[in-house]
Amino acid sequence: MSKMLFNTEIIERNNVVNIEDRAYQFGDGIYEVIGVYNGKPLMLDEHMQRLERSAREIRLTLPESTAKLKKRLEQLVSTNELHEGIIYMQVSRGVASREHYFPSADVSPVIVAYTREEERMTDVEDKGAKAVLVEDIRWLRCDIKTLNLLPNAMAKQEAVENDAIEAILHRGNIVTEASASNVFMVKNGELYTHPADNYILNGITRRKLLELASELGINVNEQTFTVDELLAADEVFVSATKLDIIPVLQVDDSIIGNGQPGNITRQLIHAFRNLYEQNTESRA
Ligand code: PDD
Repeated sequence: MSKMLFNTEIIERNNVVNIEDRAYQFGDGIYEVIGVYNGKPLMLDEHMQRLERSAREIRLTLPESTAKLKKRLEQLVSTNELHEGIIYMQVSRGVASREHYFPSADVSPVIVAYTREEERMTDVEDKGAKAVLVEDIRWLRCDIKTLNLLPNAMAKQEAVENDAIEAILHRGNIVTEASASNVFMVKNGELYTHPADNYILNGITRRKLLELASELGINVNEQTFTVDELLAADEVFVSATKLDIIPVLQVDDSIIGNGQPGNITRQLIHAFRNLYEQNTESRA
């Protein structure tokens, strides 16, 4: 059995859930999923910065600096000899007698992290997949990476029941993101994605792809688009840690573009692969 991080210690992975942990009872906490390529977490600083922001937004004080936390996560990866996969990490507001209001300041947040060996999804990345449209019924702070994922889980379930890889969410006619990834479309050679506001999670993969697209000379528009525009797009893809970039060839019954992974999608897949192939283990 692999090891896990529990607050400040790396211990045997076992059942450490306390029934009065606020993560368990209220979903009161935040999390990150970090990709590990070639034994090294990718864009760990960016994930740590987003964790800090999520903590601030829900008024949770992290018990220690993210610099220390980062070291512990790197140590966990090397203890578990993880080569290819993910780190899952969450911070709950802590363990306290069940009351909706926040516990007193002497209650410490609880940090847990573990790793999971996982192959890259390069096959689906090359071939593409189907998505379904689902109404976005989430709250209005989707920019915070909180543990409250029930609407996301329900949407993903709908995708799975329809042999789709993702559920693309829309609020009314506006496409926001997907159940566990960001959504992009290409129209007339330009890239479009929802602006990073309170309606979406500003994905670490999303940010990197916008950078890579600019470097490739692709025009980037952080602009909302409608369901009709999505269905009429030349290319659609979703992006997230662990999924990387998946071309979407069909949304519900509509075929996107010519039904094949598009040129800009392929360029971005290639650029992202280059990035993680260079992500070699740093042995000090
Ligand atoms: N999900 N939007 C939502 C709702 C997400 O849950 C995720 C990631 C993303 C993409 O973010 P990033 O590129 O930083 O992974 C966008 C993770 C992987 C998860 O919950 O498993």
